[in-house]
Amino acid sequence: MSDLQGSVDVAGTVGQDGVVHVVRNRWSSTRGFVLAAAGSAVGVGNLWKFPYITWENNGGAFVLMYLLCVPLIGLPIMVAELMLGRRAQTNAVSTMESVGASVVGGRNWRFVGWLGVAGSATILSYIIVIAGWAVASFFQCVSWSINGYTPQPPDAFPQFMANTGLQILLSFLFMAATVLIVIRGISSGIESANRWLMPALFGFILIMVLYMLTLDGFGEAMTFLFAPRFGELSDQAILEAMGQSFFSLSLGMAIMITYGSYLRPEQSIPRAATVIVGMDTLVAILACVILYPIIFTFPEIKSSISGSTTGMLFITLPPLFYTKLSGGSLFGPLFYLLVLFAALSSSISLLEAVVALLIDRFKYTRLKATLVSSFVLFIGTILVAFSLDPSNILAQVQVFGTSETGFLHNLNEIFFRGKTGVMGIADHLVANWFLPITGLCTTIFVGWVLDKKILIEELGFAEGSMYLLGFRIIMRFVAPLAILYVLYSVIAGTADFT
Ligand code: PHE
Repeated sequence: MSDLQGSVDVAGTVGQDGVVHVVRNRWSSTRGFVLAAAGSAVGVGNLWKFPYITWENNGGAFVLMYLLCVPLIGLPIMVAELMLGRRAQTNAVSTMESVGASVVGGRNWRFVGWLGVAGSATILSYIIVIAGWAVASFFQCVSWSINGYTPQPPDAFPQFMANTGLQILLSFLFMAATVLIVIRGISSGIESANRWLMPALFGFILIMVLYMLTLDGFGEAMTFLFAPRFGELSDQAILEAMGQSFFSLSLGMAIMITYGSYLRPEQSIPRAATVIVGMDTLVAILACVILYPIIFTFPEIKSSISGSTTGMLFITLPPLFYTKLSGGSLFGPLFYLLVLFAALSSSISLLEAVVALLIDRFKYTRLKATLVSSFVLFIGTILVAFSLDPSNILAQVQVFGTSETGFLHNLNEIFFRGKTGVMGIADHLVANWFLPITGLCTTIFVGWVLDKKILIEELGFAEGSMYLLGFRIIMRFVAPLAILYVLYSVIAGTADFT
């Protein structure tokens, strides 16, 4: 049944006591939930950012570092967020408010929820634009597969970026797809979409991996990826690994709290979170297994990778499928379809974090909540699209004005590392400030403020068990200290997580 009919996103049933109990919309199964949460986690961050930063950090040792951060910090925070959401059965803001109500700090904890939702909203407005590029690459590949490859002039991508009308159109298509899914609700919309998006995604990945096995550079690529050479590891690597694990697992963005709120009490959170985190990490590694053999087989493309995170995925790769790789006319479109599916399951979750807030807190119907929020967020998307044209004023704006000296200039430096343009600023704000602050507050809340009894009830860890002890040590010390180090580096200007 679609969730469209109800006036609010809940169904009322009359209990034996004659009182109407409000039953929250829920995942129909644990598997559906796991796929949806993994769908949120697996995204352009896995397919695009992880291979890029692993490349920049010389492979092996960095991968190991990432594999350490994920279970040690990412997984426990995911468990914490899901747990909070399920406890409160409501959106992220109301969750922090209601779980916080009885502890130190009280309802003020809702601020953490607001920051998370703000992060989601901001990320959605620009991730949609990046997804639009994947839409374009997909159509480009399909057209090459059908009509034959035509070489592109070197300035094709900059021209494409500066074509604001086209950017808006592509983003709109992607936003429309996101809206059409979210509007149908949790089980009939988000869950059922992920039930076919995710298996398809894994299928595509498997096909691509098998194909890469046939390339000459495969062996060398695997050595680069898996053989740790600690000497090549920079001081920044651990920070980058941590930042990436946060982004990749969709943490600190109200999403896992929201998704957790649709869970039933009997579903095991630690088990589900482990599977979600495992899937996300697997896809990140497999993205390297797909992309690196191409680089090692055609070393002449190495130079075009560094310098731009978009370079590899949207500029270097599409022609390679047609000029160098046999079977490229099949694998080209397939690869971009893969990127599109990954992006769609993420954008759904970003929109849902906002929609849930409007439904639970402002009593909107799901239909109204989805339309209103996507409309407002799309205004942000349009601004981002304009800022891609270097000659547009929005490409040059700075939050504190563009003066090159003085107090305001210093503020731009401190808070935004001097970034210009709507997209750069939005990305910087979320990755360097919102995410770590939300993450830090969440760990302090769960580690220091929340009653231990709640952990025992929600997580099923026995009093005195190793799991409980380990979880609490991480929440109290390991994770907050690690995130404080992240924030310190942001403030000191020694790291940038965009
Ligand atoms: N986790 C997604 C990825 O790795 C991106 C994302 C971030 C999605 C935040 C939702 C929220 O690409």
